[in-house]
This record gives sequence, structure tokens and C-alpha cells, in this order.
Amino acid sequence: MKTTATHDLVKDSYADMLKDAQEKQSCCASSPAARLAGYEDTEKHSEAAGASFGCGNPLAFAGVKAGDTVLDLGSGAGLDLLLAAERTGPSGQVIGVDMTDEMIAAAQQNAARAGFDNIDVRRGLIEDLPVQDASVDWVISNCVINLSPDKPAVFREISRVMKPGAHFSISDIVVGELPGWIRESAAAWSACVAGAISEEAYLQGLRDAGLVDVAVTERLVYDACQLRAILSEDIPGLDLGCDQIEALLQEYSGEVWSAKFSGRKPD
Ligand SMILES: C[S@@+](CC[C@H](N)C(=O)[O-])C[C@H]1O[C@@H](n2cnc3c(N)ncnc32)[C@H](O)[C@@H]1O
Repeated sequence: MKTTATHDLVKDSYADMLKDAQEKQSCCASSPAARLAGYEDTEKHSEAAGASFGCGNPLAFAGVKAGDTVLDLGSGAGLDLLLAAERTGPSGQVIGVDMTDEMIAAAQQNAARAGFDNIDVRRGLIEDLPVQDASVDWVISNCVINLSPDKPAVFREISRVMKPGAHFSISDIVVGELPGWIRESAAAWSACVAGAISEEAYLQGLRDAGLVDVAVTERLVYDACQLRAILSEDIPGLDLGCDQIEALLQEYSGEVWSAKFSGRKPD
């Protein structure tokens, strides 16, 4: 698959966001994103947590066991890779796939710093995974599939790489009704909002790829304040005063939420 303009936009945005997060590391232990995502204890992995851009915690309550192979789609700076490796132990394997060079380098550094030698971070697209057929026990992903310009391809790839009976746990942003100006905003795409689909479309996409027992197990509905944090301080491209922006955020609070999807591949 060729790299699309959307991939290039997302790559540039995440390289910049990572740089900003790393520059802030000296003064903050964990980023607002990591706090929003509901991780309880990330102190041990403060560098990875400080550069986390997740919207949920796909590993919380997931049944990853010692010896499992776990694949993280869009692994970013690697917080979930580290937490997965703690669960698989040295007899398991953890694979991260990401397309942004800076994120791959950060994840490799964080894995080495934490002393894991069973974390393999691969450069690639989640629409065309550099992973063998039927080779993983768990697919996890945190706030990534919304960014893909071809979600059916991602769902097919998840199904392809899972062993029969394997499980997935995916946290991602889903949306209700959003106005055209948000849908058309490149900044809102990179902020995980403009490219997001509805919860029903997400569930159907996973089922269409042959996955079963597909369900939403958790939801975090964003209020206006959290929506502002996600969309950043200003809404680029809109020449609006603070009051108007606040009114817009109030109007669309409740239309954007993080959902945790789980399910499995049939035996
Ligand atoms: C919102 S960040 C989430 C990172 C990480 N999962 C976390 O929780 O911190 C999105 C990540 O997905 C990667 N990404 C986005 N679209 C991708 C694609 N189509 N293929 C591979 N990686 C992608 C970006 O490079 C970035 O590292």
C-alpha cells in the first residue's frame, strides 16, 4: 500500500507532538493524555507515560498471560508495549507497529531502558501489517485506528494476524454527530476526532472482518473541558472568540467518546 496524504499528515503531527511531550518531560511526570486514559500506575515508565497519546487502557483487565504474543497497532512511544511485556514475561513476545520514525525510536529506547529484550518495534502501516498470518494471541491498540484512512483494511489485517481463538482489546475514539468544519479540519483529524467513526460502524467493521463476540466494554464520554484538551487550546482555522468556542465545545460535548472494544477470532 502506498503512503497516503493522510498518513503523511498524521506522521508529521505525531513527530511534532512527541517532540513537545519530550521537551515537557523535565517538569511533568505524565501527560494529560495519559491521565485522561485512566492508567493507574505509570511511574515506573515515566518517559513512555509522558509521551502517551492514548485514550483508554486496552490492557486493563485483558487476559494476557505469560508466554503470549501481543501485537500493539500504532505503538507510539511504547507505554502499552512495556505493560504488555510485564504480563507476557520473557517467554512471550511483544510486537509494536508504527509508521512514525520518531515514535519507533522512542519506543525502542523506552524498551531498552526498561530492560526488555522481547519487544520488537516494527516500521509499517496498520493497513498492511508487517506480521505473519495467524501468529498473535492478542491484538491491542490505543487511539490509533481512528487515524486510518482505510479502516476496513485495518480490521481485515487484525483478523489475518490473529491465531484462531485469539483476542483483541482496542481503545479508540468514536463519535456521534459532528459538524462539517470539524470533519474537514486536518488538526481535528490528527487530534483523533475528525477521522473517528461511530461505535456501530466500528462494531460492524470488526464483525465484517470475521471477528466474533465483538462488544464495547467501557466508555469515557468527553465533556467540554476534555474536548478542549483533545482539540488543543485553539481550534485552528476558525476565527472565533473564546465565548463562541466554549459554546461550540458545550454543544458537541457528549458527541465524542473513548470506547474499549473486545472480541476474538473464532476457533
Ligand atoms: C494517538 S497516537 C497513540 C500512540 C500509542 N498507542 C499511545 O497510546 O500512546 C497514534 C500513533 O499511531 C501511529 N499511526 C497512526 N496511523 C498509523 C498507521 N496508519 N499505520 C501505522 N501507525 C500509525 C502514529 O504514528 C502514532 O504513533
